[in-house]
Amino acid sequence: MYILGIESSCDECAASVVQDGSTIRSNVIATQIELHKPWQGVVPEIASRLHTRWIWSVVEQALSEAGINKDELDGIAVTNRPGLVGSLLVGLSFAKGLAWSLGVPFIGVDHIRAHLYAPHLENDIPYPYLGLLVSGGHTVISIVRSFDDIEVLGTTIDDACGEAFDKVAKYYDLGYPGGIAIDKLSSQGDPKAFRFPSPNLHKGDHVFDVSYSGLKTAVINQLDQFLNPGFDKTKENIAASFQKRAIDILIKKVKRAVEFTGIRTVVAGGGVTANSYMRTSLTNLHEVTTYYPSMELCTDNAAMIAGIGYQYLKVGETSDFSENAKARVPS
Ligand code: KG4
Ligand code: ZN
Repeated sequence: MYILGIESSCDECAASVVQDGSTIRSNVIATQIELHKPWQGVVPEIASRLHTRWIWSVVEQALSEAGINKDELDGIAVTNRPGLVGSLLVGLSFAKGLAWSLGVPFIGVDHIRAHLYAPHLENDIPYPYLGLLVSGGHTVISIVRSFDDIEVLGTTIDDACGEAFDKVAKYYDLGYPGGIAIDKLSSQGDPKAFRFPSPNLHKGDHVFDVSYSGLKTAVINQLDQFLNPGFDKTKENIAASFQKRAIDILIKKVKRAVEFTGIRTVVAGGGVTANSYMRTSLTNLHEVTTYYPSMELCTDNAAMIAGIGYQYLKVGETSDFSENAKARVPS
């Protein structure tokens, strides 16, 4: 089965053809990063207008690189939640029109679940496992029993992990996009330079939750107080110390989830899994098998959309033409 995936939830305009849920035939990503750079963040109206201009050529390129004609498609999968509504509507409406004209089914899929599906495109991963989704909008630790059966154990109670990277980078003008900039700078800094705080979420309903607002505020406002003797207040040291703390917060909760559930397989996805310290920390988890996507599949892409879309379409689950875009999940 050839499934066309379409992703337009934020600032990547992407299309991909995936065969039988795992063979990536093409993976085209047209990024808008340069066009949002002057604002140091994604401007929703600019994003949706660019998606409108680009989507047809991105889809055409995905079909051409896959070496197939659009008539050979068996179905279309498209992100319809969560994300910027104007941007989502571009992809969703395009997918509906194409599905209608080709007479094939389409399915609106959840971007967060798709991020967790990304490692399945490259590995044969048995269920159940602990899912760790860390992106610009979400930070979720869950038990994943199938591509569609996810029990949330913990989540952020305020900012998402990637959001904290982006906000710290913006405040100190470290570069855009913030996560990549901090990752790069960190390699020249010392993570022991600053003592940044860890959230105090150890009890009751919060044992698997994380928080990033306190860390972000500490990094932004109280640097002198937290600087260890003998270190300099350089951008590199700020980046390295922040990055270590931000990732350690997550890894601690993952270890706790492994102990609590006895599940020793961890699958991670989302933009922050591109982080070098995150990848090392996951690999070094003791007596745990870890999967995370290759760099191209960490951040937003349409291969993960086509991949999970195949799983739905295979069991006959489809969307109808009244399917809408949703900014949040659930809603
Ligand atoms: O999954 P994604 O592309 O989009 C969302 O669904 O949010 O994730 C984007 C997030 C941004 O916050 C970005 O700063 C972060 O992933 N990110 C990174 C790195 N690359 C991307 N964060 C830390 N280190 C990186 N290397
Ligand atoms: Zn994403």
